[in-house]
Amino acid sequence: MPEENVYPSITAVAGANIALIKYWGKRDAPHELNLPSTGSLSITLKDLFTTTEVSPSDGLETDEVWLNGVRSTDPRLPEYLDRIRHRLGGSLPHCKVVSTNNFPTSAGLASSASGFAALAAATVGAYGKSLDHPALSELARLGSGSAARSIFGGFVLMARGHLMDGSDAIARPLIDERQWPLDVVIAITSEQAKTHSSRVGMVHTMATSPYYPAWVEHNEQRLVMAQAAVERQDFEALADLSEASALQMHASALAAEPGVIYWHGATLDCIHRIRELRQSGVAVFFTVDAGPQVKAVCLPEETEKVSQALQDISGVQDVRCTGLGPGVRLL
Ligand code: PMV
Repeated sequence: MPEENVYPSITAVAGANIALIKYWGKRDAPHELNLPSTGSLSITLKDLFTTTEVSPSDGLETDEVWLNGVRSTDPRLPEYLDRIRHRLGGSLPHCKVVSTNNFPTSAGLASSASGFAALAAATVGAYGKSLDHPALSELARLGSGSAARSIFGGFVLMARGHLMDGSDAIARPLIDERQWPLDVVIAITSEQAKTHSSRVGMVHTMATSPYYPAWVEHNEQRLVMAQAAVERQDFEALADLSEASALQMHASALAAEPGVIYWHGATLDCIHRIRELRQSGVAVFFTVDAGPQVKAVCLPEETEKVSQALQDISGVQDVRCTGLGPGVRLL
């Protein structure tokens, strides 16, 4: 009988991340490498995370992937695992993957970011390999563009990169979560999976929105300014730049044909409320991704007030608060 290889089960945990300067659109034509059209800047969250266990086994005929207790039939996951195995080299067996999010999946809460970051790190570890963080960031990006950022904690800068092999389209840490502790208050206005995934929404925007080229041009300039704002911990400057990036991303999507609308009524009510708070002197700003949830970023001393204000809005189903957290880690 051939000798069976023995692989350990490895578990990784990765925090979700929220882009303050958004990534919206890809520069590689078939989108196989998820090369972003622009760089982005994000914060990694502490209390919204994915835990993923990977167990390779010679006895498996296919990969077996469980997401939040349900067996996945999404062909992209085994394809992604194949790509990791191909990069790691050698003949590697299939694996069983058990992944859980501690927050609603696919509802605009960055589950693909934490999901692919945890999956990349756990898979590499389970096959007995070790990659440095930039290489893990590149690997995570193959699963989802934003996942490249969840490899790192705190404030993270994702490079657009210029090479067509994607080796320079990776994230790097700017300042860590202890250096500038901000809080994020998330108003959940719907726990339903969104109607257009970010993947579909961005491809459609690129193909049909007359505002897309303007989005790319302005976002690149904004990224340079936002990086400087983070480095000098300038909350007001970061607030203005982040709100503009979010609104211009949505403006480009709204201008697609047909327009992509991620917001609900409660989304807009939250945005107005956050603006009022900010005008009254509260250090808070908003951002919204490809879904109806609103994320309010604030100084920790304002968290209680912001959370209360968002809870009071009709249509807000739940409010979650989190600080900033570390990058991916193996348990
Ligand atoms: O990585 P994806 O395909 O889930 O795209 C993320 C897109 C946004 O969340 C809207 C913006 C971002 O930079 O995270």
